Amino acid sequence: MTSQTLRDARRYEEAMAQNITDQERPEFHLSPRVGWMNDPNGFSYYKDKFHLYYQYYPYDSQWGPMHWGHVVSDDLLHWEYLPSAIAPDMPYDYVGCFSGSAIELPDGKQLFMYTGVRKEAQPDGGVRDIQTQCLATGDGMDYEKDPRNPILTVEDMPENSSPFDFRDPKMWKCEDGSYRCVTVNDRADGTGGRILLYRSEDGYNWKFESVMLSNDGNFGKMWECPDFFSLDGKDVVLVSPQDMLPKDFEYHNGDGTLCLIGKFDETTKTFIPESDQAVDYGIDFYAMQTVEAPDGRRIMIGWMQNWDTCSNNRIPKGKWFGQMSIPRELSIKDGRLIQKPVREIENLRTDKVEYKNVTFENDLKLDGVSGRCVDLELTLRPGNTEDIYKKFAVRFAQNEQYHTAVSFRPYESVLKIDRKFSGSRRAIIHQRRSKVNSRNGEIKLRLILDRYSAEIFVNDGEHVLTATIYTDIEADGISFFADGKVEMDVTRYELKK
Ligand code: FRU
Repeated sequence: MTSQTLRDARRYEEAMAQNITDQERPEFHLSPRVGWMNDPNGFSYYKDKFHLYYQYYPYDSQWGPMHWGHVVSDDLLHWEYLPSAIAPDMPYDYVGCFSGSAIELPDGKQLFMYTGVRKEAQPDGGVRDIQTQCLATGDGMDYEKDPRNPILTVEDMPENSSPFDFRDPKMWKCEDGSYRCVTVNDRADGTGGRILLYRSEDGYNWKFESVMLSNDGNFGKMWECPDFFSLDGKDVVLVSPQDMLPKDFEYHNGDGTLCLIGKFDETTKTFIPESDQAVDYGIDFYAMQTVEAPDGRRIMIGWMQNWDTCSNNRIPKGKWFGQMSIPRELSIKDGRLIQKPVREIENLRTDKVEYKNVTFENDLKLDGVSGRCVDLELTLRPGNTEDIYKKFAVRFAQNEQYHTAVSFRPYESVLKIDRKFSGSRRAIIHQRRSKVNSRNGEIKLRLILDRYSAEIFVNDGEHVLTATIYTDIEADGISFFADGKVEMDVTRYELKK
């Protein structure tokens, strides 16, 4: 039975989405059907299509009681909007259907586990949000919430757990047909996030298994949106910690992203990290979730925003707000997480322009190199190996008034993205620096530009920097600058859906 709340949302989104033209949206990045979008949810492959759900408030371009928006795709780039999947319509989730995940059951149904949030009066007279885990099953279009909801509560957590911070279940199916799920929670005294592991034989009855990993104050405070999978012979935890302290060039984002590579110990059911790194080194990337594609690729998508730079009074008001990153193929090389735009993007490439061995100093423009929806590959070498250039920059979304710049200083091996001239009228963070790998001034950059974003893949995905830009769409220039002599190969494609 579809509730009135869900019927209203479905009717509203269908009517309002007609007022948004394709030109007002990103070309190939996902934006909400209407209103507000945050985390990706339920990223899955089901009935021969990729399904993606998202934290969604259709009625305004800011956060509100969370619904799950729904899109499907064959290629992860052309997304078709379907009616909202679930709405905050039950006593246990009326504050919101928060983030969660989806798996397919043996009977062909799709199962969601999501966080239901409700309010509860506290002994001290205050009122707090209570977070529990809930189930819904459906057919890829309509979903029924489980009569047993909520199925995981404070009773199902270890002692000293907080009922206020317990969320974002990510389920997966094991080879033996049983299921596992990770959630995040906080200790009752608020001393930091941890990842809890649950086990189920049938997807419906879940049992607490272990505290898989404790933060212990190492990486921010509370954690959000955990994910766990095996990749290239290692085990990987992805999580989005809140309130992070920077560590050298890592974790500058407050609400940050963390990748831990290590091993899951089957006897203790705990994860033993061997290395840590940020997932994205730009400004706007959070709450990422992965899916295993039918061909075995591990594909990650993230919310292309950051809570700190999009609090309600800081965002441009419009018909929609929030975008997903480009889906990225993951792998591990030399102990680091490598990310590449999904290869399907090559089908969007048109109008190739290529230059080889362009040697230049100071400012440079190249015929045919412009555009706001662009795949731009740059391979840089010093023009003079005896005297390596001091700085290289590429500027895009550029006209006389605006530009965003990516610059590289080989002596420090630091890459910077700077969007302060992108048209932003807010005093929010506009720059990020990342330490990158380069030898003698050699570096490879791939810029994936869409109308309202830039994703910079360094050295075939060793580092990625992502930022949104809301620059006037007329600003479509691209230019280069070098302090010293740079030799450069340029390949540029227009990206069209
Ligand atoms: C992360 C998050 C999740 C929560 C959701 C609510 O961005 O805070 O922890 O489930 O957003 O919209």
